[in-house]
Amino acid sequence: MSGIRPTGFLHLGNYFGAVRNYVRMQDQYTCYFMVADWHALTTMTDTKELATQVRRVMAENIACGLDPDKVAFFCQSHVPETAELYLFLNMLAYVGELQKTPTFKDKVRLQPENVNAGLLTYPVLQAADILLHRATLVPVGKDQEQHLEIARDYAHRFNTRYGGELFPEPYAFNFGESLARVPSLDGAGKMSKSENQMATLYLSDGDETIRKKIMKAKTDSGSGPASRTAEGAVLVQEKMPDAVANLFQLLRLVAPAETVTAFETDYAAGTIRYGDMKKTLAEGMVNFIRPIREKAEAIQNDIPYLRRVMEQGAAKARVSAQATIKLAQEAMGLKYY
Ligand code: TRP
Repeated sequence: MSGIRPTGFLHLGNYFGAVRNYVRMQDQYTCYFMVADWHALTTMTDTKELATQVRRVMAENIACGLDPDKVAFFCQSHVPETAELYLFLNMLAYVGELQKTPTFKDKVRLQPENVNAGLLTYPVLQAADILLHRATLVPVGKDQEQHLEIARDYAHRFNTRYGGELFPEPYAFNFGESLARVPSLDGAGKMSKSENQMATLYLSDGDETIRKKIMKAKTDSGSGPASRTAEGAVLVQEKMPDAVANLFQLLRLVAPAETVTAFETDYAAGTIRYGDMKKTLAEGMVNFIRPIREKAEAIQNDIPYLRRVMEQGAAKARVSAQATIKLAQEAMGLKYY
């Protein structure tokens, strides 16, 4: 089970870090993938764009290979059982602990004018999303580790307080080596939604935008580890500069191994031409992103199709949700006749 926030556009980091994991999981497990529209409300006060954003994130994930016939792909708000479990879990959630959660403290700093209770109980809602399907494997990035620990605590507390073994403990999951790091184009950090847009490749970027971003990427002034200055002196660099290493890392994602090796050989010989390397990288990215972008655009505008996807997904998710809620009510003694 995993949740995807309908905020912003998917970028290459999301693709290689998350979506590709979902697509692999869908062939091996029973999967529940959800668009976290209620979670979005904790930071979004103006909801005019919400519908477009929900449709976009669904379309982008389907375009990347997520198959709504193989998994339950649904919207959080279409599964109202989530709210009931959220209420139950709130009785197991200590305010002091929630206040100490790093993501909450970040939000307090970012939006001091809107520190709402939904923000405080964000991890409780996320635990409800997961426990509702009694999920054990949650494909998420490192930034969600705290939230998963909280979900495990609530599962454990529920079982201890009300007896039984209703909730298994969920753990973060990935296929190990498949979680590729996707560096940003400015030589610093990873691609991210909010930071420098010129350094991030979005799955919605047009061909020319992709080329422009890559041609502007930082490299190095020389042409490899033993490049010469204008005076002919040899400059030996011991370590490949980060910006160059990042370009190689990106090239590995989209170019054949022989192409990467050829540029690596040039680099080692001090004869690499970064302009050529960037052109190769740009064409690789264009060929990779274009079909996803075109497919996503077509799906996003096909509202009747998306409606069928959402209805079908919610119907699947509610079967599992209703079974869990019934068992939770019984465990809690909420059956009066
Ligand atoms: N908090 C997650 C994020 O910011 C999104 C999310 C919501 C989620 N519900 C979830 C992730 C359930 C995993 C499981 O990315």
